[in-house]
Amino acid sequence: MKQLLTVILAMCMPVVASAAGGGGHLDSMEPDLSDQASLQRGAQIFTNYCMGCHSAEYSRYKRVAKDLGIPKELYEQNLIFTDARFGELMNIAMPEEQAASWFGTAPPDLTLTARVNGPDWLYSYLRAFYKDESRPHGVNNAVFDNVGMPHVMVNQGGLCAEPPHIGQEPEVDPSTGEVVGDDICDDWAIEGSMEPKEFDRAMYDLTNFLVYLGEPALMDRKRIGVYVLIFIGVFFIFAYLLNREYWKDIH
Ligand code: HEC
Repeated sequence: MKQLLTVILAMCMPVVASAAGGGGHLDSMEPDLSDQASLQRGAQIFTNYCMGCHSAEYSRYKRVAKDLGIPKELYEQNLIFTDARFGELMNIAMPEEQAASWFGTAPPDLTLTARVNGPDWLYSYLRAFYKDESRPHGVNNAVFDNVGMPHVMVNQGGLCAEPPHIGQEPEVDPSTGEVVGDDICDDWAIEGSMEPKEFDRAMYDLTNFLVYLGEPALMDRKRIGVYVLIFIGVFFIFAYLLNREYWKDIH
């Protein structure tokens, strides 16, 4: 009995660990790899705003185009800005040493970032920049303290004057009855061209794409998983009938 309990507990471990890893101060996002439109928008943002500095050198353009249902010509025209060919890895031209001297740290490859950091962290990080004149780029990040990355989407998302409300539920102030923390920023240093909710949606799409990039097989796996369950279901009926047939004469 004790052994059985140990085994059951051990099986629960990864669930407990990942629940704890989420942390209390992040906004959560639920990736949806079946939402192809979201993934396509994410790929577009990634190519336009991130690939200037970050590579995704374990992915190929071709694979991404296929998985996201983007035709080759359309992909080449709109989502490859270098002279890279369709079948190549998603590398960038920025030399690492030079980048390290510009930013203090070289921008890391982002293929696996969603697996390393988790989707909640990424989604929060991308929306957590705020003004801080003491930093080299004039910005800091509420999720990644003293980050070396500039706020590259400041024109769209705007810039909070103070650390934004990440991982906080809106609350009603008992003395005034006003809802506090409903908006991500109390005060904007720079207003973005997008509404905050619209920007959240864009960062959701970008995170969704990065989750896909980290594990492209997840798409197939979910689909195959359904077939496997159906198979097991059908198989069970035959196994049950056969079992009954075998034992019929013994009882
Ligand atoms: C101007 C160059 C530049 C651009 C453009 C840029 N980044 Fe960065 N990024 C950096 C640098 C430099 C770092 C390293 C920061 C550090 O370690 O302090 C970084 C770090 C990161 C990290 C943290 C990774 C980790 O695990 O430490 C993530 C995630 C990230 N960037 C995502 C993005 C996304 C998504 C975009 C597109 C919206 C983007 N970056 C655009 C320069 C850039």
